[in-house]
Amino acid sequence: MPVDVILGLQWGDEGKGKVVDFLANQYSVVCRFQGGPNAGHTLYIDGVKHVLHTIPSGIFRPGIFNVIGNGVVLDPVTLKKEIQSVLPKAPDALDRLLLSRKAHLILPAHRWIDLASENAKGKDKIGSTLRGIGPCYMDKTGRNGLRVGDLDHADFDQRYKKLKTKHLQFIRQFPDVEFNMEAEEAAWMESLDSLRKLRQIDAEYWLAERTALSENILAEGAQGTMLDVDFGTYPFVTSSNTITAGVCTGLGVPPNQIRKVIGIAKAYCTRVGSGPFPSELKDETGDRLRQAGSEFGSTTGRPRRCGWLDLVQLRYACIVNGVTDLCITKADVLNDFELISLVDAYQTGGEWTTEVPYSMETISEVRTVNLKGWMSPLESATRMEELPAELRLMLGNIEDSVKLPVSMLSTGPGREELLVRN
Ligand code: IMP
Repeated sequence: MPVDVILGLQWGDEGKGKVVDFLANQYSVVCRFQGGPNAGHTLYIDGVKHVLHTIPSGIFRPGIFNVIGNGVVLDPVTLKKEIQSVLPKAPDALDRLLLSRKAHLILPAHRWIDLASENAKGKDKIGSTLRGIGPCYMDKTGRNGLRVGDLDHADFDQRYKKLKTKHLQFIRQFPDVEFNMEAEEAAWMESLDSLRKLRQIDAEYWLAERTALSENILAEGAQGTMLDVDFGTYPFVTSSNTITAGVCTGLGVPPNQIRKVIGIAKAYCTRVGSGPFPSELKDETGDRLRQAGSEFGSTTGRPRRCGWLDLVQLRYACIVNGVTDLCITKADVLNDFELISLVDAYQTGGEWTTEVPYSMETISEVRTVNLKGWMSPLESATRMEELPAELRLMLGNIEDSVKLPVSMLSTGPGREELLVRN
């Protein structure tokens, strides 16, 4: 049963890309199963920063296939640029990149609708990345969408025009926003030629053949559990299922093929965009976390909201995902913090709870466990046992709370700066 999953347990940006890259050579295939170019997976290869938006993070590892699954929404313009950016480091990338025929296409008007509808929401903005993700998934579930496999059909142009007409009518309900449809459409049409050159597959059959051969497959999540359209902080979420269940629907992999679920959480919390964030620090400590952790969006450059690690939220995420292996990232960001807090209860409706309530917006107060920081660098530690006692105590608190061992700890951005428990 060889499909392992890596996904984010918070609000995205947990450092998944680095962990995928670290583990990728144990797998023959790395797949994306949901989301689209709203994601930004940062990898450091030979000290050089690479940000991937749609291409799976196994692309820089020779010999590994990278599958963009049916659950992904794909913008041909972004994908074209991304391919050009990886080719110097991965010259055979095109031979190892495979697209599900059933993946939906983000059209120029999807981005326009995203912009116009966000703009119309005023103070209730979701803080979307404006990559057209929500409108594209709306067309998918509304059964209007165009898929990669449609590119080869004789009626593609006709279907595009029909959908565009619908979009233009839809946009009329919103106040005007600036969007150069003509230019965007021209770039989109041009990028379709590159898309047509990529290898399309029926990923469900292709992956079934691989699993039958006992090849190891890695499914790489985007965003994070609290942005899941069903289990996140709705409506301040993305439009896909970011949790383990999304692997099955986003790749055509049956549930009984899933082996490990590697959940990634930062040693603190961040969130981009609007919506509830119980452990947020709107003070100097929050600013310090942002600076120390370089917490600025890799897709949009926006400053991320920062706060302490939230154990209530983390336990919830471990439950809905069926996490088997927990990985804590960016522990080194806390190296200079004299005091570190962990949220362990919320007050809602006048009562204390250790469960995530229906709406996180009803949380009026949080309770914290306050720990002494370790105040030292971590690079000399080569095993978990060599970590400072204060950090081990913090990890113990996490383990007691989520009832799982911390299997991996990331102590810096580089590929090698990751401790793995035996
Ligand atoms: P959308 O998916 O671009 O519509 O954005 C919906 C919400 O999810 C917004 O709050 C975004 O900031 C957030 N979001 C989307 N993608 C990511 C991501 O990759 N990392 C972190 N937040 C994200």
